[in-house]
Amino acid sequence: MASIKTIGLLTSGGDAPGMNAAIRAVTRSAIYNGFKVKGIYRGYKGLVENEIVDLKTQNVSNIIHHGGTILKTARCKEFKTVEGRKQAWENIQKHGIDALVVIGGDGSLCGARQFASEYDFPIVGLPGTIDNDLSGTDHTIGYDTALNTIMWCVDRIRDTASSHERLFFIEVMGREAGFLALNGAIATGAEAAIIPEISTEVDQLAELIENGFRKSKNSSIVLVAESPVTGGAMGLAERVRKEYPQYDVRVTILGHLQRGGTPTAMDRILASRMGAAAIDALLEGQRNIMIGDDDERIVYVPFSKAIRRDKPIDRDLLDTLHKLSL
Ligand code: ADP
Ligand code: F6P
Repeated sequence: MASIKTIGLLTSGGDAPGMNAAIRAVTRSAIYNGFKVKGIYRGYKGLVENEIVDLKTQNVSNIIHHGGTILKTARCKEFKTVEGRKQAWENIQKHGIDALVVIGGDGSLCGARQFASEYDFPIVGLPGTIDNDLSGTDHTIGYDTALNTIMWCVDRIRDTASSHERLFFIEVMGREAGFLALNGAIATGAEAAIIPEISTEVDQLAELIENGFRKSKNSSIVLVAESPVTGGAMGLAERVRKEYPQYDVRVTILGHLQRGGTPTAMDRILASRMGAAAIDALLEGQRNIMIGDDDERIVYVPFSKAIRRDKPIDRDLLDTLHKLSL
């Protein structure tokens, strides 16, 4: 493998708080180790459309505390095509980029894997998504901040829910994964979490209502993971209105609120550790891996494993939620 002199860096897919801390860490650690850094705007779109600039250490000053991503992000249909990736490859060569660091979620790492194998090109990924749905890492960058935002919002909804004695379905993000819903439910003392991972096993709504979820209180909060499998908060509320009309039901969809805001200390630290680890990995000759954290240790996770979409939810947490919602 030719030696690496210049590293390209991009953020792709849904933004996540902590991406800026990761950009800072990758840039500074790369420069510290003698590499040049090129920032690519708007994820793969910037790679295809040649929006590429030099990144110096001062370009990443004063960003660690900001949500979003200074490199912007996008979804790029062209990169899913052979022609689009060829265009990206030409721009990579034009800028003398020898390796890429891609910060993004499942889709972005799928794209990285495809490109890396097509062009035999070294890529290291960082898990940047609020969904926490990448396998091989306990946490993804942005997840902790989103969880804290959910907690903040639900605490406020609880005041009105209990005053009006209502049943609230609060929909959270997660794109087919229940981590935000389940952990958000534990953190807010919700009655239940309705998540896609167990939707095929039980009718979670029927179980919740028929097990007498209102033994000791008159209001209830249920966190629902967005997903066609759960039916989402709207779908569940509709069912309640038809099947259990005795409940006064309301819906709140937290939506993109969950993606913004100042990253928590946990996310800043995770992003900083992972950003530095991406450069260490390239120095060690690693390629086509995602940086993960396993019990506070940095690990290298092959892309094929990271994107498998088989990260299990913690079933003990479901049990705990059930016990505590008495
Ligand atoms: P996330 O990374 O947050 O999961 P997306 O799923 O939207 O976000 O993916 C981000 C981008 O990654 C897509 O817009 C596309 O450019 C690229 N991508 C996703 N899947 C593939 C694929 N199979 N092949 C090539 N590129 C892909
Ligand atoms: O992957 C992050 C995420 O926020 C998911 O939780 C959500 O399903 C999706 O992105 C929404 O994407 P957008 O509104 O940006 O298209």
